[in-house]
Amino acid sequence: MGEGVLTERLPSADRAGVDETLHGGLVRSNDALRSGTVPLEELACRHGTPLFVYDGDRILARLAALREAFAPMRPLVAYSVKANPNLAVLELLAGAGAGADIVSGGELYRCLRAGVPAGKVVFAGVGKTRAEMRDALQAGIKSFHVESAPEMEALGSVAAEVGGVAPMGVRVNPDVASPTHEYTRTGHAAAKFGVAPEQAVALYRRAAAHDALRPVGIDVHVGSQIREPEPFLRALDVVLEVAKLAEREAGVALEYVDMGGGFGIADGKGGELDLEALGEQVAARLAGSDRALVVEPGRFLVGDAGVLLTRVLYVKRSAGKTFVVTDAGMTELIRPSHYGGVHGISPASRPPLEFRAEDEPGPRRRPSKPGGRLEPVDGPKRRVETVDVVGPVCEQGDFLARDRVMTVPDPGAILCVHQAGAYAFAMASNYNSRPRPAEVLVRGGEAALVRRRERFSDLVRGELHA
Ligand code: LLP
Repeated sequence: MGEGVLTERLPSADRAGVDETLHGGLVRSNDALRSGTVPLEELACRHGTPLFVYDGDRILARLAALREAFAPMRPLVAYSVKANPNLAVLELLAGAGAGADIVSGGELYRCLRAGVPAGKVVFAGVGKTRAEMRDALQAGIKSFHVESAPEMEALGSVAAEVGGVAPMGVRVNPDVASPTHEYTRTGHAAAKFGVAPEQAVALYRRAAAHDALRPVGIDVHVGSQIREPEPFLRALDVVLEVAKLAEREAGVALEYVDMGGGFGIADGKGGELDLEALGEQVAARLAGSDRALVVEPGRFLVGDAGVLLTRVLYVKRSAGKTFVVTDAGMTELIRPSHYGGVHGISPASRPPLEFRAEDEPGPRRRPSKPGGRLEPVDGPKRRVETVDVVGPVCEQGDFLARDRVMTVPDPGAILCVHQAGAYAFAMASNYNSRPRPAEVLVRGGEAALVRRRERFSDLVRGELHA
């Protein structure tokens, strides 16, 4: 277990009345988990499970921390919408001045609906369609990040067609292999993303000569969930060099450098990226230049601000293994099975309490009430085992955790799956015809339902009789 993961504990009445602040804005109080002042168990009862709960105050605190780390550059924070595209999350971030990093027309639509100023939107992706380019151009986005020569030609022709000029930057592939899961590594030469440095300079030359293209920046993104500053800095060095060459050889003036996202957070595999150290190094490299900085964090802003609440359905023992079967699985959180993600899991609910008279035997637990005390039912007998936490989806790859040492929960208990604010609901599916869960945003002690749970009728919406 790496730093930052909530470890399972036996309920302990010794902690009764003591609030313990855990990472991600969660508080454990009297053995129950709260988001701010709102008890998670209560939310699960009110809205049902599986349920996503996001802590808006935590999201804003993370935005502030990020700005602080890069303070000398006063960066444009272009939130990577794909991490969590809920409108309420976008509204929250837009309200705090963030822009957006998008990869589709759908994300552009969400941003405009949520009030993200188009002038703060950058558009990445290797497969932008002409329709997406037209919409983004007409909306007046800050910049397109082009990822190939043919894509740049398409952008130029779309812009010419609508009588506009497309602001753009080249996404450079710096050939930096970042230490992360192979599916989230994007900066090595064999990746589909970006353009090799030499080719990038040629693209700037071509863009400079094109009436409908206006080179304004340069972009790089080497991957996601990166815990060390080094890959970011190597990539930045390459990009700054390309920018210099492009200015010299293609005569373009690049106003900004976008160093992408990918800032790692603490989870079961390791600790968090030292963002301050990274910020200092970036400042040193940009000192004396009047180029603006853009960053595209997704997970860093929302990852540990969100949890997935799930109810234990059964505890199944077979072939020497213990399976904790929950009502959430890969349809709600695909990261464990798709990326080997390790998410903390802890009980969100208090074990049931029972009243013991003053003279009954048993360890001293909660502060005594007159004539007796409240104790967890069977508390001392709870067993710690190595279990698989599995969902109800008909796939052997459907699990939330494997070989996890935890207190075996009772059926009916609510479990809290941590670091579920990013790439969880965003990647949720209706596989097995499972309606997608509800989402709740907590701010200043108030919990608001920001997406209702899907109904069965939602599953067939859009389907037609032959
Ligand atoms: N900018 C670009 C161009 C990106 O492609 C991404 C993420 C980001 C920024 C934001 O990266 P972040 O700061 O969130 O790490 N589904 C995977 C992660 C895929 C990331 C895709 N691109 C996961 O669950 O680990």
